[in-house]
Amino acid sequence: MNIHLKALDVGKLETDALCVFVGFENLSFLSNLDSKLSGALFSVAKKESFSGKRDQKLTLSTNGRIGAYKVFLFGLGRSDEFEPIILKLAVAQAVKEVKKIHGTNCVIELPFVFLKKYPVSTLVQSVTEALYLSTYSFDKYKKKKENDKSLQDGTIHVSPPQLSAAEVAVKKGTILAKASCMARDLVNEPSQICTPTYLAKIALEIAKKNPKIIRVKILEKEDAEKFGMGAYLGVAKGSTEPPKFIHLTYTPKRSKGKIALVGKGITFDTGGVSLKSAEHMETMKLDMAGAATVLSVFAYLTQLEIPYTVSGIIAACENMPSGSAIKPGDIVTSANGKTIEVLNTDAEGRLTLADAFSYVIKIVKPEYLIDLATLTGACMVALGQDITGLWSNNKKLQDELMKAAKETGEKVWPMPLEKDYKELIESGVADVKNIQTGRYGGAITAALFLQEFVDSVSWAHLDIAGPSFAEKETPLTPKGGTGFGVRLLLTFLGQF
Ligand code: BES
Ligand code: MN
Ligand code: ZN
Repeated sequence: MNIHLKALDVGKLETDALCVFVGFENLSFLSNLDSKLSGALFSVAKKESFSGKRDQKLTLSTNGRIGAYKVFLFGLGRSDEFEPIILKLAVAQAVKEVKKIHGTNCVIELPFVFLKKYPVSTLVQSVTEALYLSTYSFDKYKKKKENDKSLQDGTIHVSPPQLSAAEVAVKKGTILAKASCMARDLVNEPSQICTPTYLAKIALEIAKKNPKIIRVKILEKEDAEKFGMGAYLGVAKGSTEPPKFIHLTYTPKRSKGKIALVGKGITFDTGGVSLKSAEHMETMKLDMAGAATVLSVFAYLTQLEIPYTVSGIIAACENMPSGSAIKPGDIVTSANGKTIEVLNTDAEGRLTLADAFSYVIKIVKPEYLIDLATLTGACMVALGQDITGLWSNNKKLQDELMKAAKETGEKVWPMPLEKDYKELIESGVADVKNIQTGRYGGAITAALFLQEFVDSVSWAHLDIAGPSFAEKETPLTPKGGTGFGVRLLLTFLGQF
């Protein structure tokens, strides 16, 4: 996808499809276009009762009266209910329509009526992100490439005074979308390719592309042993794939402070000896989605000139059953000295995160620690597949993450660190156990387990088990990795 900006008269723009986005009962700004179309626009709109309500659509053939072959109108609904995500979803709908007529390009006419509510930069950035995200496909293993000849160029129509703000917005939207698509690619890559070694290779490449600004350190198994990472290595030891503990550091010229981003990096989660059923295992290459998010954020941090020193930490390994695998009832010692009774080897994410956190606290010493993890099925039971659970011990951090999520349209909901549930993860033989007593509140007890390893650092935990992977296609994402959290984190880091 290539995005262009044009400030010409809209009637003159040569395109397969002119996609016009309109607010409810705000069609009057189209009178110029209507007269160029000899009144056809308003008459068809009237006939088909198109008033700009949300999800309404209108199609018009121009018969050569203007530069566009077809005109599509998309309703965005009422002004007081408008949010950028509504525009993004409508752009995704437009992309579908353009593809239906085999268009290779389109022109986007912005919903000018909403400029009272949002600056042009917000609208242009939303359109840019949506064009990229909704045309993404993962077809490297297919003979028939979906994107061949399909929609390649999107032009956003702006007025001359809007041009410079729009240019900045296209740049920003492009960065956020490309970063998200990188995370999608990493999640979609099958686990026999996307191993811990592969993730380490990606990290090394990111550092190489950003010399001096981004550094990387890979801890091998022996290094992790020296550090006392018994929990992480306990998970890793069932696999023949060597574990790789990845530490990226981004150092800007001027820094407001230190933030650590930890991503769960289980490149495949079989459940280990506590083996998952085939049905539950099918999608478990997704279990490194947190790591994918962290790597993709790092790949684009420099371009956004983020004013924080950022560490990216991934304790990457594979969770396999084998003769050398950890077994239920085993007790491991984590890097901060706490012992963990491993009663279910399928609750492996928290074991790797525990040691990643201890490393962060000892080595990085950040002011803020944010983790992203496909941690529990229970979070999906609680919030459904589209909403990420957010746990935090710091109100300001939580509020800022919620604010960024609202902006990007990624759904996040705050959850409690309920003290009274702590007894559910008390162990009779170790300091803590990796699964809870009883059936309910499993996403909360998982967060409480993590809290055992964060010390007094301001921390936020995002359980992305549901939103990181789309089991069926949605407007902005095909089936597979979604890139959840990438735009959220980059936006958060840019304005925190
Ligand atoms: N990776 C899974 C969580 C998961 C499930 C992510 C579904 C995405 C979709 C995690 O390691 C896991 O297996 N969690 C267990 C924990 C249980 C054993 C306490 C779960 O949720 O069943
Ligand atoms: Mn598991
Ligand atoms: Zn897992």
